[in-house]
Amino acid sequence: MPTPMPSMKLLLLELLLSLGLAVAPPFVAGDKHQFSFSGFSNANLTLDGMASVTPAGLLVLTNGTALSTGHAFYPTPLRFHNSSDGTVQSFSVSFVFAIASIYNDYLSSNGMAVFIAPSKNLSAAMPIQFLGLLNHQNNGNETNHIFAVELDTFRNWEFQDINDNHIGIDINSLQSIQSHDAGFYHDENGIFQSLGLDDQKPMQVWVDYHRENIQINATMAPLGMAKPTRPTVSANYNLSTVLTDVAYIGFSAALGKINTKHYVLGWSFGMNSPAPAIDLTMLPKLPPGPHTKDRRRLQVLQIILPLATAALILSVAAVVSLLVRRHFRYAELHDDWEVEFGPHRFSYKDLFRATEGFDNKNLLGTGGFGRVYRGELPRSKLRIAVKRVSHDSKQGMKEFIAEIVSIGRLQNQNLVHLLGYCRRHGELLLVYEYMPKGSLDKYLYGEVDNNSTLSWDQRFWIIRGIASALIYLHEEWEKVVVHRDIKASNVLLDDELNARLGDFGLARLYDRGVEQETTRVVGTIGYLAPELARTGKGTPLTDVFAFGTFVLEVTCGQRPIMQSTQDKQVMLVDWVLEHAQHGSLADAIDVRLKGDYNVEEAYLALKLGLLCSHPFACARPSMRQVIQYLDGHIEPPELPAHQSFQALALMQNEGFDSYIMSYPSSTSAGTISSSSGGR
Ligand SMILES: Nc1ncnc2c1ncn2[C@@H]1O[C@H](COP(=O)(O)OP(=O)(O)OP(=O)(O)O)[C@@H](O)[C@H]1O
Ligand SMILES: *[C@@H]1O[C@H](CO)[C@@H](O)[C@H](O)[C@H]1NC(C)=O
Ligand SMILES: *[C@@H]1O[C@H](CO)[C@@H](O)[C@H](O)[C@H]1NC(C)=O
Ligand SMILES: *[C@@H]1O[C@H](CO)[C@@H](O)[C@H](O)[C@H]1NC(C)=O
Ligand SMILES: *[C@@H]1O[C@H](CO)[C@@H](O)[C@H](O)[C@H]1NC(C)=O
Ligand SMILES: *[C@@H]1O[C@H](CO)[C@@H](O)[C@H](O)[C@H]1NC(C)=O
Ligand SMILES: *[C@@H]1O[C@H](CO)[C@@H](O)[C@H](O)[C@H]1NC(C)=O
Ligand SMILES: *[C@@H]1O[C@H](CO)[C@@H](O)[C@H](O)[C@H]1NC(C)=O
Ligand SMILES: [Mg+2]
Repeated sequence: MPTPMPSMKLLLLELLLSLGLAVAPPFVAGDKHQFSFSGFSNANLTLDGMASVTPAGLLVLTNGTALSTGHAFYPTPLRFHNSSDGTVQSFSVSFVFAIASIYNDYLSSNGMAVFIAPSKNLSAAMPIQFLGLLNHQNNGNETNHIFAVELDTFRNWEFQDINDNHIGIDINSLQSIQSHDAGFYHDENGIFQSLGLDDQKPMQVWVDYHRENIQINATMAPLGMAKPTRPTVSANYNLSTVLTDVAYIGFSAALGKINTKHYVLGWSFGMNSPAPAIDLTMLPKLPPGPHTKDRRRLQVLQIILPLATAALILSVAAVVSLLVRRHFRYAELHDDWEVEFGPHRFSYKDLFRATEGFDNKNLLGTGGFGRVYRGELPRSKLRIAVKRVSHDSKQGMKEFIAEIVSIGRLQNQNLVHLLGYCRRHGELLLVYEYMPKGSLDKYLYGEVDNNSTLSWDQRFWIIRGIASALIYLHEEWEKVVVHRDIKASNVLLDDELNARLGDFGLARLYDRGVEQETTRVVGTIGYLAPELARTGKGTPLTDVFAFGTFVLEVTCGQRPIMQSTQDKQVMLVDWVLEHAQHGSLADAIDVRLKGDYNVEEAYLALKLGLLCSHPFACARPSMRQVIQYLDGHIEPPELPAHQSFQALALMQNEGFDSYIMSYPSSTSAGTISSSSGGR
């Protein structure tokens, strides 16, 4: 250790530390504090969430439980401010970590971070992209007083991540102030060499802060290599404006849905001195990973290959007969163009097993496109929802798959992610992540038990979530995607009651290849913009129309087509408009809220709903404007005159009356097609 330590007591401490025995002083550790762990067997860390220390001394931050977080803190707080001038002192952290994903890399999960925070209580932090550090509400807020260096294995577009394998410097926000591809610069030639964070290989990281030139360096290297001179990523930031005087240092890791483990093998820290060297010879061993690429290759070569050759000869007959049987039972369709989507292709057999043979007891619901089953993948135990869509034509299939696979690959927090698909003769199976809380319509119309009525705040949050999902589809993805089937049953809720829009792009499959004179109108009655009856062509503005109806639905707790007293059907839009004209908007708001709502927000929602459902497409706002209204950045315009809305009633009576009459408005089979073909 390079820093001289003056007293006998400190020398003793150093000795103990280098033996891997942590001595946690009961006071706030001061100016020259140092610690060092090679393995954590005897360490007194504060753990929460999924974090644990194995008997061998390995710190496991997340153990593979989906949507979980794990934290480990140095037990005592440290004093970061200089007692004479109050600025944050120089400090230095070093650690050895490894991330192991039990799947192939295309399904990587979220990452981990070393961080300094004012408290050990991070119970409000969320998993997935928030890395267990922050949440939707406090991300970016200066009152967090959090400094972190993230090792991120997922590309989150909302945080402008550069890729899915980077190291970043974070101040109070997961949007890094500086980030860089994970890796290191060779000392000899200055060439950058990247490292795969989740390769299940131990790597060492150094984080240094310098008080005088307010500089933060983060450096990484494979285990055993000396610290490279040039840092991987560096930033100038005055941490005196961020850290509290007394703060805790620790690690955080978070999972989304994929079974990943985050390990820390060793850790050291120095205040006003370089972090003490970690004794690499004493580090605990990583558990053997079944899926490490190198290890697997080795196994194949040394053991399995000779055995397999022998076994193969013996079992050829069995395999052939099995294949013949499977060919009929689990037959699938494959085309050349699918090669590039290989990783997203599920085998029918796996889906068949996952759903226990598409058993009715796993049926989640039936929609206009087909039935949806719940399931659990046999090996990974990942819970999924499988949608069986009957579809014969190959037309447009390639474009369709390409589109939904690539949208699904990006992690937008308000979309139900598509995990993959499978094709069979006459049908397409789409595999989505499972949303245990189900769809929004069940909450609005009380199929779920009564006391689970959504509060106004929750509803407003849901409206905002769907608006941002639509902005994403309309504007932020590489091309414009029209959803075409926005409605309450396509809005699913995740564990935290965030809204997730499902079925994106699906309607599109049905309006390609318009070969006959009739145009198909795809969508659901009550949500269809009037111009669709004439043009049959979905546009972002027809989505805005449906979104308007959806907003009214959520605010009023009424279906888009209401059953009035004399057995007549009334459009929800007209009904709300009527209330607006009579100045009785409060009566339109869902009675289940029992008057407990934010009046301004509720009126804003009603007004926006009406604006978006304007019969003339050109009078509707774009989704970008909608979100600005919702966030209160801009005042929405006044409602247009009643007359233009009456045109809506007229057009709807012309265009859709016959369908309204022939479909019971309360069933989920309200999806229509105006061609004789139907579906
Ligand atoms: N990923 C999912 N997780 C959990 N439940 C789901 C999931 N996807 C669909 N469901 C459930 O299955 C039901 C049927 O879904 P489906 O999408 O087939 O019908 P729909 O949304 O009513 O109509 P549409 O065909 O127009 O989308 C939904 O109401 C929902 O409750
Ligand atoms: C561990 O640290 C906590 C907090 O400082 C302390 O209360 C506890 O006594 C320590 N336990 C051991 C075994 O050292
Ligand atoms: C992970 O840890 C939690 C809590 O300690 C436990 O409930 C869960 O079963 C563990 N999961 C695995 C896969 O070990
Ligand atoms: C604390 O601040 C004083 C005044 O700026 C400075 O002289 C001293 O070196 C600082 N101490 C440390 C440990 O940085
Ligand atoms: C941790 O913080 C949450 C709110 O963020 C609070 O509800 C909880 O009581 C706190 N827990 C402890 C142990 O202080
Ligand atoms: C930041 O957090 C504080 C305390 O939680 C809160 O009062 C404030 O409104 C937040 N600021 C922003 C911009 O969200
Ligand atoms: C960061 O790296 C640069 C370049 O090697 C170096 O000059 C500087 O001293 C480093 N700063 C810290 C705080 O380590
Ligand atoms: C950093 O910020 C503190 C408090 O705002 C200030 O006193 C100090 O001078 C700043 N340091 C530098 C190098 O600017
Ligand atoms: Mg649906």
